[in-house]
Amino acid sequence: MTTMITAPDIRTELPGPMAREVLARDAAVTSRSLPRAYPLVPQRGRGCVIEDVDGNRFLDFNAGIAVNSTGHAHPKVVEAVHRQSEELLHYSASDFYLPIYSRMGQALAATAPIDGPVRVFLSNSGAEAVEGALKLVRYCTGRPYVISFYGAFHGRSYGAVTLTASKAKYHKGFGPLLPGVLHAPYGSDETFEHIENLLFRHQVSPDEVAAIFVEPIQGEGGYLVPPDGWLRKLRELCDRHGILLVADEVQSGMGRTGKLWAIEHTGVRPDVLISAKGIASGLPLGAFMARAELLEKWSAGAHGSTYGGSPVPCAAGLATLEVIAEEGLLDNASTIGEQLITGLRELRRRFADKITDVRGVGLMIGVEFATAELAARVQQRAFELGLLVLECGESSIRMSPPLVVTAEEARKALELFGQAVAG
Ligand SMILES: Cc1ncc(COP(=O)(O)O)c(C=O)c1O
Repeated sequence: MTTMITAPDIRTELPGPMAREVLARDAAVTSRSLPRAYPLVPQRGRGCVIEDVDGNRFLDFNAGIAVNSTGHAHPKVVEAVHRQSEELLHYSASDFYLPIYSRMGQALAATAPIDGPVRVFLSNSGAEAVEGALKLVRYCTGRPYVISFYGAFHGRSYGAVTLTASKAKYHKGFGPLLPGVLHAPYGSDETFEHIENLLFRHQVSPDEVAAIFVEPIQGEGGYLVPPDGWLRKLRELCDRHGILLVADEVQSGMGRTGKLWAIEHTGVRPDVLISAKGIASGLPLGAFMARAELLEKWSAGAHGSTYGGSPVPCAAGLATLEVIAEEGLLDNASTIGEQLITGLRELRRRFADKITDVRGVGLMIGVEFATAELAARVQQRAFELGLLVLECGESSIRMSPPLVVTAEEARKALELFGQAVAG
């Protein structure tokens, strides 16, 4: 693909002949647990465009599920990956001193909306970072319980999936899950009623709760933005009881909302912040950052990882932070986000019987439909028209394009989405 590319450009039926071959092989060999949304078979990508194996081009408003923050194959990220892969592919940072690991740690710590000095642990994925944070809060407080929210998604490993409560299917057949995890309603006054008057009265003493894990904007649960002041009240509740506040910014972070971390919109300072997805523009990297005094409590060997913070993902991560700053991608996320939300609210007025809500911050936008079937139909129709979007929550579609998305691409996406909603 050249750098000047246009999308959408759909040349074959979908899936096309090459795509059908991949689907057949895939159906024969891969785990049935993979929850495929529609038959997209991506071959290459540039910016906000994905080309499939048959040469069809799509406008990508998924960004590999909020991952390709600087767009597909940003030249600076590709160059950093090349350079690092010629230098050193791997050495375990758990056992030795990789220079790029501490550089990535330093760069991330400098961005952390956390009070005082900050330390960083690097992992390979979001779930792994959640697991590490879970171990950290229990270890540091000596308290066994943690609280997370209905609608939350924190990953699929045992600790993370126990915190997760977006869909029952994520738990089905896997019990017993991790003990000591309690859930509360998200994003309303009911949260505090539930925690203070039900959980703390009937189930657990607050001085046995290590932490509350919260997504500042719920992702998989439906791109739900809590009301103003909600996170501050949560912080106050934590402070009253000596509970740590852990912000899971795996989906909402890395500039997606127009600030590097979504929690910055609220002024609330978490004790621990978890990142992954957009952090390295597509290479597997996760992180959790915490007040230094917490990560200083761990003894050597308490936590580690062979690959976590491997050199090539770290090079992509450093390049990602540079590109976000150099290209003004936070401002772009705010500006184009406004354009999209305004356009989607117009669509809501036009299709009031179909679209029931449009919400979001920056380029983290959810569109709620009257029924789950309708959301599924719009997702499929958008794909056929050449626009990639993905369902979330019960009956919503999320838009999470790369942060480099242009006004013209946003205009085109709105046009296609409108056509998809029209049917
Ligand atoms: C908020 C949040 N936390 C954690 C995860 C898990 O990340 P991963 O899939 O990299 O394990 C996700 C993934 O969607 C997420 O959205």
